[in-house]
Amino acid sequence: MSESVKHKIEELSKQIEDHNYNYYVAAKPTISDYEFDKLLEELIKLEKEHPEYLSTNSPSQRVGGAITKEFKPVKHKTPFLSLGNTYSEEELSNFDDRVKKALGAEAEYVCELKYDGVAIGLTYIDGTLVQAVTRGDGERGDDVTTNVKTIKSIPLKLRGHEYPKEFEIRGEIFMSRKVFDELNKEREEIAEPLMANPRNAAAGTLKMQDSSIVSKRNLDCFLYFILGDDLPHANHYDNLKAAHGWGFKISEHMKSVSGITDVFKYIDHWDVERNHLEFDIDGVVLKVNSYEQQRVLGFTAKSPRWAIAYKFKTQQVSTILESIVYQVGRTGAITPVANLKPVQLAGTTVKRATLHNADVIEKLDVRVGDTVFVEKGGEIIPKIIGVDLNKRPPHLHKVIYITECPECGTPLIRNESEANHYCPNELGCPPQVKGKMEHFVGRRAMDIDSLGAETIAQLYDAGLVKNVADLYELKKEDVLKLDRMAEKSVNNLLAGIEVSKKVPFERVLYGIGIRHIGETTAKKLAYYFKNIDALKNATLEQLLEVGDVGETTAKAIIDYFADERTANIINRLRYYGLQFELSEEQLTLSSEKLKDLSFVVSGVFSKFSRDDLKKTIEQNGGKNVGSISSKTSYVIAGENMGPEKHKKAEKLGIPIISEDDFIKMINE
Ligand code: IVH
Repeated sequence: MSESVKHKIEELSKQIEDHNYNYYVAAKPTISDYEFDKLLEELIKLEKEHPEYLSTNSPSQRVGGAITKEFKPVKHKTPFLSLGNTYSEEELSNFDDRVKKALGAEAEYVCELKYDGVAIGLTYIDGTLVQAVTRGDGERGDDVTTNVKTIKSIPLKLRGHEYPKEFEIRGEIFMSRKVFDELNKEREEIAEPLMANPRNAAAGTLKMQDSSIVSKRNLDCFLYFILGDDLPHANHYDNLKAAHGWGFKISEHMKSVSGITDVFKYIDHWDVERNHLEFDIDGVVLKVNSYEQQRVLGFTAKSPRWAIAYKFKTQQVSTILESIVYQVGRTGAITPVANLKPVQLAGTTVKRATLHNADVIEKLDVRVGDTVFVEKGGEIIPKIIGVDLNKRPPHLHKVIYITECPECGTPLIRNESEANHYCPNELGCPPQVKGKMEHFVGRRAMDIDSLGAETIAQLYDAGLVKNVADLYELKKEDVLKLDRMAEKSVNNLLAGIEVSKKVPFERVLYGIGIRHIGETTAKKLAYYFKNIDALKNATLEQLLEVGDVGETTAKAIIDYFADERTANIINRLRYYGLQFELSEEQLTLSSEKLKDLSFVVSGVFSKFSRDDLKKTIEQNGGKNVGSISSKTSYVIAGENMGPEKHKKAEKLGIPIISEDDFIKMINE
């Protein structure tokens, strides 16, 4: 029996990883998301029943859950070199001359995109990912294995059998533009500061302590360099192609060329086409293909002599600033936007550019009618970087920044130390109200998918809803009167709203859109306070006791409940039957017995899967940490706990307890 369970777990793991490969690497999914989720559910269930067969590289581990307090520094086996950079084609020709001279022959080059993300080195032994380390200073990087395992395009186990026994493969972890835009949209909804660009977002995500958040951020990774003693081929290109066969994501845009003229063609092509990629690149990398030729060329102290990076120049044009309009975001933040005389830049027509805020306008002293320089860097939205004063016509007026909201007329405010002006009319300003509703019905909150941004705008403009509570009073006959609303779509819409009444408390709490409360914080607050009244009555000190909640968040919660109008909306939602407390099931599972205690979970357990054990710790107010330190309260040891961990816990005098001891602890 147990052998067959083991076999089934292995089988399912393999199947799931194959589907991950088809979806994330080959971009050719062969089953639906639903079918995929079913397979994963089945695997998780079996692993829960038979934790002895749970492998650290099981695809179930991709959802994350482990917390890393500090990322361990690791020395690179081979120094993590960087590349020489150039912005000029002439220097690239010089590079080619040097190569030809040193080799006494033409070199075959491989052209690749220069991905704009975070460098990573992945070590595989016997086909299994064992370690992922950042570049760091080139000598030492940080061990980010737990977080990297959540990246679905990185294989946890390799495909086929043709790979070397041990090797390192290096590449770039990045965030696609789409994921980045979604992340920022979400951050905007909860009034969190926006991320500057996908590279920063990827770097920040990779260093997050909670791997379950990393998992949700959908990072991706292209591999571009492989190191090992028994690689199958004697050149870079063929080895990367082989690595693709083992399951790695290698860009299809890698190209082998035979002379510098083709390199220039490749550069010219991507200088324009890069705008249509789903991810950012900041240049092109040129590598000598043959390992023998690479060996002859060798290295300088910092970089190989057989490779060079050509960086794209930031593209600039000048055009006329025709007018400035002011946009109001979902959180009330005002953004001045320049309307420009349309101009071609980097393959697209630019008509608008952001001016960021009042300080930027002041600093540039930009005026309507000016000729301005527009630049498109890594960011998608072009920006104005300066004014051509030689072309300024006489009598242009300085820009007078607006003082009232262009949408609702409310006087704007600007907090000290903040760059943006805000419209404070959170509950009456149309884009803010619509934004709040979109957030409320979103997938991670009430999940009313029959209600999109367009329908919300329609309902709002028709005066049928002014806040989220009004949604629950919508009448079929009123909605039917709207454009493009047929019987079936209205039934769907109302059914979706009805079903949302069952959505659990933590998601309702996220959905009501308290500033700075993201999904994770909402969950922590829900489990800590258990119902909305306790949360509403909490003092600043009590709020600060919840992990994740700092001064700003705590104040935002207090302000939220102090406002009579929001209190009224909550009362109405409660009256309509939404969940404002933990369910019976959630309640029986939760307590505060482990408050202020931190746990390291190690080994395999018989009564819990590791994930469940960690979840139970959190639901009872405790914290999970990744590695043992003097601050750890307990180590829960299962079977096969590593001897190193054991030694460390003993040395620091941290109590080592069994899972039965732990169960006693929470049942006491
Ligand atoms: S090769 C010895 N190839 O650019 C070979 N690097 O300084 C070293 N990068 O931060 C790197 N795309 O992470 C290589 N196709 C590519 C690359 C690439 C991006 C990054 C790399 C490093 C920097 C080079």
